[in-house]
Amino acid sequence: MTSTIPSTIRSICCIGAGYVGGPTMAVIADRCPEIQVTVVDLNQARIAAWNDPDLTQLPVYEPGLDAVVGRCRGRNLHFTTAVETAIAAADMVFLSVNTPTKTKGVGAGQASDLRWIEASARQVAACAQGHTIVVEKSTLPVRTAETVKAILQAAQGEVAGSGQPKTFAVLSNPEFLAEGTAIPDLEQPDRVLIGGEDPAAIEALASVYSQWVPADRILRTNLWSSELSKLTANAFLAQRISSINSIAALCEATGADVQEVAHAIGADSRIGSKFLKAGPGFGGSCFQKDILNLVYLCGHYGLHEVAAYWQGVVELNGWQQHRIARLVVQRLFGTVTGKRIAVLGFAFKADTNDTREAPAIRICQDLLEEGAQLAIFDPKVTEAQITADLGVPPLATPQSPALSGDGVWQVVNNPSEAVAKADAVLILTEWSSFAQLDWSQLAPLMRRPAWVFDARSIVDCAAVRAAGLQVWRVGMG
Ligand code: NAD
Ligand code: UGA
Repeated sequence: MTSTIPSTIRSICCIGAGYVGGPTMAVIADRCPEIQVTVVDLNQARIAAWNDPDLTQLPVYEPGLDAVVGRCRGRNLHFTTAVETAIAAADMVFLSVNTPTKTKGVGAGQASDLRWIEASARQVAACAQGHTIVVEKSTLPVRTAETVKAILQAAQGEVAGSGQPKTFAVLSNPEFLAEGTAIPDLEQPDRVLIGGEDPAAIEALASVYSQWVPADRILRTNLWSSELSKLTANAFLAQRISSINSIAALCEATGADVQEVAHAIGADSRIGSKFLKAGPGFGGSCFQKDILNLVYLCGHYGLHEVAAYWQGVVELNGWQQHRIARLVVQRLFGTVTGKRIAVLGFAFKADTNDTREAPAIRICQDLLEEGAQLAIFDPKVTEAQITADLGVPPLATPQSPALSGDGVWQVVNNPSEAVAKADAVLILTEWSSFAQLDWSQLAPLMRRPAWVFDARSIVDCAAVRAAGLQVWRVGMG
């Protein structure tokens, strides 16, 4: 699939204006002012939000993102629904579309749903002009590039509007940014990974990143290693979280303290100190999806023991979430029916408005099932999003108790409102403002005896106790 590669990339199109496409392209545009970068999406509302004139309604909340978009938008960064025109103008097209777990059909519950990647590859096949480098940015099952190549190959050689025959090269360039730190992750990546077969295409993409990434951090591999490295990185990171959460439960049973254990093991340079924070389990759109995808792939290749090994990481994560909900019920005398519980934090981690697979969803659902009245506060998550996630609407009249004993929830405007008359506070996201809460002021608002359940280890336990509240902290025996 090779032919003449433009030595310099002048025009990039990114299909998918989501959490990855938007920030990634904004940083490329910022660091490469000579490249025109156009981000396209079928979702008109999302594109309109990216074009919000005063930058306050960008569809993705990321610290620092508004400044980067503000510098480049209208100069060499564009957001549009004109997908065909943008593809036709591009030397390089990034596929940054969603790849969620399949919900039905073969592989449902495990395999990635590749319908959006296939649709976008077909759009490129139809609309590209001249030579186009197609870059897989989405996280994909190993060997997906085979499918992308097959789709593009079928269109190769057609003479498009430009009068030039179409040719393509396919690269894998997975993204490793984490939400909440997307901008620093993109500006100073640990590494950029480029997998491919065509040296000229690989160097063309490397030349884009080399505008700001040191040469020794740009890794080149074959296509399949690149695709598999992304799944493997997420699996290893998630595995560390399940490992420390498993030890947190043992700490609670034995009098050990998981923070001390994490510090002690993290001091071993072979283990390292990062990603050892016990919590309510990992959330986010990718860890579970990518491990399940790995499990499916292993099953496909007959590696059933390997599949079971990785499946255990996901199972432990679900167990940890149910365990925390059960523990809240147990400490509140075995019943939470009709009791008010202040839930602080709904996003899957701090500094993001993203709630995909947030531990708060499962934990709140368990507590609602037990009949609790939840008063939820998150600095960035909207009521509409929480309604969609919990699958039940909020209580219409917040003050009226649930007569049926059914669980109910409402969104409140601040932590003080949440804790008023509550029997317990449950901290599920590590927003820094929650670490600053003044418990001497909040405690008198609560009904006694009252608990603080800190699933993120961010409160000062001594201050909570001094305020007359009981405290549970994840992993503290
Ligand atoms: P997202 O759902 O936020 O965005 C994907 C966008 O693609 C959506 O806006 C959707 O409308 C658009 N889209 C789908 N098909 C399209 C088409 N044919 N034409 C135009 N637009 C189309 O997803 P995301 O979080 O940005 O993730 C994208 C990929 O990146 C996934 O594979 C994910 O696993 C991977 N990834 C995500 C993160 C993260 O932090 N969210 C990090 C690394 C990798
Ligand atoms: C993760 C990876 O860190 C990124 O490298 C990857 O690109 C991305 O997935 C992806 O492929 O989507 P992200 O999910 O945005 O990034 O955020 P993380 O910081 O990894 O946190 C994931 C979850 O693990 C969060 O719920 C977080 O609270 C939890 N976590 C993280 C812990 O419970 N303990 C830790 O020590 C670290």
